[in-house]
Amino acid sequence: MKLYIDDANVSEIRRLVDLYPIDGVTTNPSILSKVKGDPIEVLKEIRAVLGEEKELFVQAIPTDAEGMVGDARAIVGLLGKNTIVKIPSVPEGFKAIRILKEEGIQTCGTVVYTPMQAYLAAKAGASYVAPYVNRIDNMGYDGIAVTEQIQDILTMHDLPCEVLAASFKNSQQVLTLCAYGIGSATCAPAVIDAFVKNLAIDGAVNDFLSDFAKIAGEGTTMADLIG
Ligand code: E4P
Repeated sequence: MKLYIDDANVSEIRRLVDLYPIDGVTTNPSILSKVKGDPIEVLKEIRAVLGEEKELFVQAIPTDAEGMVGDARAIVGLLGKNTIVKIPSVPEGFKAIRILKEEGIQTCGTVVYTPMQAYLAAKAGASYVAPYVNRIDNMGYDGIAVTEQIQDILTMHDLPCEVLAASFKNSQQVLTLCAYGIGSATCAPAVIDAFVKNLAIDGAVNDFLSDFAKIAGEGTTMADLIG
């Protein structure tokens, strides 16, 4: 499962990319509104942190297909290869996705609440579809089940499109979908850190440290002993 950071805070992105096996960053207009500064400069900074190879997702703003296509061309022109344009999975969006596919611009069908939205975005040529797990849960439906059904539909119809599960509130939701075999998940920094936030893990690491200190001295490493 590919793992993306769902955030635009550049220092948090730098920290997480340094520590975890991260595949890229996803943004949306609301995420960009939460960080200070000009959104274009923020996106350029994120691209600089990611380098050319990791993926950066940026959402088109207009509501009509022609406008979405114009935004997509501008976004990819600015941020280069491995930039994926998020397009809302609505009728004008499906049209934009088809046009962009022909131009070789990769898209992600976003704002996915139902399996049919995902199916149509994938059929139109999206490289990714992004179901909003937690938001679906909050509507009284089962976000995990919807996402698993989308994965099944893409597999069954042999559509070359990956599920990019989004809108997580806890690590259990991510684990469940990871075990199901979905292709990608995008998570806020706090959810990523929560994957390994566990007193048992910290306790085991500290026990190893204190046991080794007893035989080698406080702070002594293997490299110190080997010389
Ligand atoms: C990503 O594609 C979505 O825009 C994002 O994950 C939504 O998350 P939220 O429900 O926490 O806003």
